[in-house]
Amino acid sequence: MKTPKDTKLLRVLFSEDQIRRRVEDLARQISSDYADKGEVLLVGVLKGAFIFLADLCRRMTVPRRVDFIAVSSYGDRTVSSGNVRLVLDLRGDIRGRHVLVVEDIVDTGSTLAYLLDLLRLRGPASVRTCAFLRKEKGGPPVDYVGFEVADEWVVGYGLDYADDYRTLPHIAILQVNR
Ligand code: PRP
Repeated sequence: MKTPKDTKLLRVLFSEDQIRRRVEDLARQISSDYADKGEVLLVGVLKGAFIFLADLCRRMTVPRRVDFIAVSSYGDRTVSSGNVRLVLDLRGDIRGRHVLVVEDIVDTGSTLAYLLDLLRLRGPASVRTCAFLRKEKGGPPVDYVGFEVADEWVVGYGLDYADDYRTLPHIAILQVNR
């Protein structure tokens, strides 16, 4: 198993201030888009999305509720296994509801593709996607993106490396010594 000893924080990519301003923009845009829809159900994808979701939902102005789902594909690896596993399901029914899936990062897109297939089978009124970070690798379209990032390992603001660095208040680039 990799440990933080094999890693080194290289530099800050997005500061707390940049993150706060971008999340405010996203919350404003999402609130405007959902203004005539009644209520939006924010589905946070654990663990990575918990901090972004907490900030986003508190800045939105339309009626909203929150639920969580947990999947895993990376484990302690730095490359997606492509084999997505449902770890924890939603608590509530999503039939007829406007669902917004909230991710910390869309990398290969396999996690999001798996989730969209799963959620659409349950008869929601709509499903949209929001990711704080997105790498340019294809995968399903993301409706709301915080920042596009290059193909580097990024940590902080919920994103981890082998479950470390999640609680950094900013996004940093991590060097991983293999
Ligand atoms: C990370 C991240 C996304 C997914 C993105 O989750 O939070 O859910 O990988 O990668 P993909 O686009 O290549 O599928 P991870 O499996 O590491 O679990 P975690 O959120 O608990 O850290």
